[in-house]
Amino acid sequence: MGMIRQPGSSIKSSERAIQVRGCPRVILGGCMSVASRAKRVTTNTLHEMKVNGEKIAMLTAYDFSLARLVDATGIDVILVGDSASNVMAGHETTVPITLDQMIYHAQSVVRAVQRALVVVDMPFGTYQSDSNNALKSAIRIMKETGGHAVKLEGGGEVLSSVRKIIDAGIPVMGHLGLTPQSIYKFGTYSVRAKEEEEAERLLNDAKMLEEAGCFSIVFEKIPARLAARVSSSLSIPTIGIGAGADCDGQVLVLHDMLGITQEFSPRFLRRYADLEETIDSAIRGYIGDVRSGSFPSEEESY
Ligand code: KIV
Repeated sequence: MGMIRQPGSSIKSSERAIQVRGCPRVILGGCMSVASRAKRVTTNTLHEMKVNGEKIAMLTAYDFSLARLVDATGIDVILVGDSASNVMAGHETTVPITLDQMIYHAQSVVRAVQRALVVVDMPFGTYQSDSNNALKSAIRIMKETGGHAVKLEGGGEVLSSVRKIIDAGIPVMGHLGLTPQSIYKFGTYSVRAKEEEEAERLLNDAKMLEEAGCFSIVFEKIPARLAARVSSSLSIPTIGIGAGADCDGQVLVLHDMLGITQEFSPRFLRRYADLEETIDSAIRGYIGDVRSGSFPSEEESY
């Protein structure tokens, strides 16, 4: 078996290849992961990460400035999520955001990103009616944004759209469990697939999406045991949000994990910063300095 190489990476003489349980790895003063070797993350990189048991880290971004910061950290996947409808536009649900608005956000993100795989959400109404409409929407996203893949919600009911988009050469990420675009059908954001019948349906949907050629599936707010069971029965990587630790990767909404959006506090959300507090005190400091006349100083003047 040959060594796994990313295009553009070179293997130096000091490196040696070893077999770990039949799986080749490159050692560079320690084990070099698939992710650290990837100059650009592709759908193949994510597949290799699953094969190697490396977890995939994914975050949302909707604008140039934050996408640049997120990409520089070495994140694997950036999702231009339709959660922009809530986070950027202040809507109550993801239903109102339009294709033009998603394209605007995705263009801004793609301009900033040098390494991560950029996945763009297809907004509500752009793929549910028929598969030709779905393909047209996906083509607009790919041509006008430069994004690398699209994501859409649902299983069997959107399968013809998924197939048509993949047949045209566009990578698709699925999304099962809690599907926020269907909020008015479900009426609640509670945990999905707790009962056996819905769990079996989710497992079947996941298999159908894999067979149709999806490169990955997001599982949102489902029991951890179910996510583990489905993840181990698929060869494509699964990405969880409120779906436990045994998915192949995790995703969070950037503004939630940075503590900019304080009002949203589900159990699955871990906050890594309190930017609301940081931003509030910075702006209050500025207002105080302007009002007292201490800003600008002589050094800050021409
Ligand atoms: O739009 C979004 O942010 C998403 C994630 C929650 C997976 O779909």
